[in-house]
Amino acid sequence: MNDEPLQIDGGVAVITGAASGIGAGLVRHALSLGMRVVAADVVADKLRASVAGLDGEVIAVPTDVTRPASVDALADAAWRAFGQVDLLFNNAGIMATGFSWQIEAARWQRLLDVNIGGTVNGIRSFVPHLLGAGRAAQIINTSSVGGFLASPLMAPYSATKFAIVALTESLRSEMEMLQAPIGVSLLAPGPVITGIFDDPFGATVDAASEGFVAQMRTMTQQYGVTPDVFAARVFTSLRRREFWIVPQPEALDDALRAKTDGILARRNPTLPAW
Ligand SMILES: NC(=O)c1ccc[n+]([C@@H]2O[C@H](COP(=O)([O-])OP(=O)(O)OC[C@H]3O[C@@H](n4cnc5c(N)ncnc54)[C@H](O)[C@@H]3O)[C@@H](O)[C@H]2O)c1
Repeated sequence: MNDEPLQIDGGVAVITGAASGIGAGLVRHALSLGMRVVAADVVADKLRASVAGLDGEVIAVPTDVTRPASVDALADAAWRAFGQVDLLFNNAGIMATGFSWQIEAARWQRLLDVNIGGTVNGIRSFVPHLLGAGRAAQIINTSSVGGFLASPLMAPYSATKFAIVALTESLRSEMEMLQAPIGVSLLAPGPVITGIFDDPFGATVDAASEGFVAQMRTMTQQYGVTPDVFAARVFTSLRRREFWIVPQPEALDDALRAKTDGILARRNPTLPAW
């Protein structure tokens, strides 16, 4: 069962979306703990640059999480290089803003492919190896506070992050059914200072989306934590093998309680407070 101790210090972490932001912070923190790290990202140059000069054992494996064969190759590379995987972070994710009916079809599809498909591919490529290895490991799927609290003007993001919560709960139940030593965690970041809002617009930009993104950027600068602070909190929860990893409870708890109360009282939703 998944109460067996995890090997973190000296173990192996695979991290997708590792060239920037939260993923890059997780790479640095894992290395600081003496983990061996497999860093994966679709932007190969940026990935190589981000791991160059880091102290510790890290390999960069360019990977497109939307492509099953690419994620299979990532798993093969990890086992070939290090012979084990202790932590798998399905972290790669992207943002799109705009009114839901105006976001181009290709951009909607990209969000579905990266945010949901990327996590599904991580599960499909790694779980068979992890079950075969028969030792403790943890799969950490990155959702968001936005995976519990839907927002206007980023429907593809909200919808895909809600999906990750369901996918992760299902996976956890499956591991429990099998009494496998593989633990599962749902990671729900609040604001973290990263590149997520660098390219949120598609072909059509409207004033409402511009205002929304400006507000999100200001809010992140004001209340966000750095990826390094964030990563340290994640690892504290991982040592306890927690399912719900919510490193910034102040960004979730009160609003989720109010939302849940509203659903149970059959009150109509209201606009979020941001
Ligand atoms: N930053 C926040 O405030 C915040 C809040 C909640 C959730 N998150 C989630 O955290 C995760 C990391 O985001 P971030 O904020 O560090 O953003 P980021 O943009 O800084 O980093 C995301 C990384 O994912 C990579 N990526 C994109 N598509 C990919 C693909 N197809 N295959 C492999 N890699 C791909 C990008 O190249 C980039 O390096 C995402 O899942 C995001 O939704 C972030």
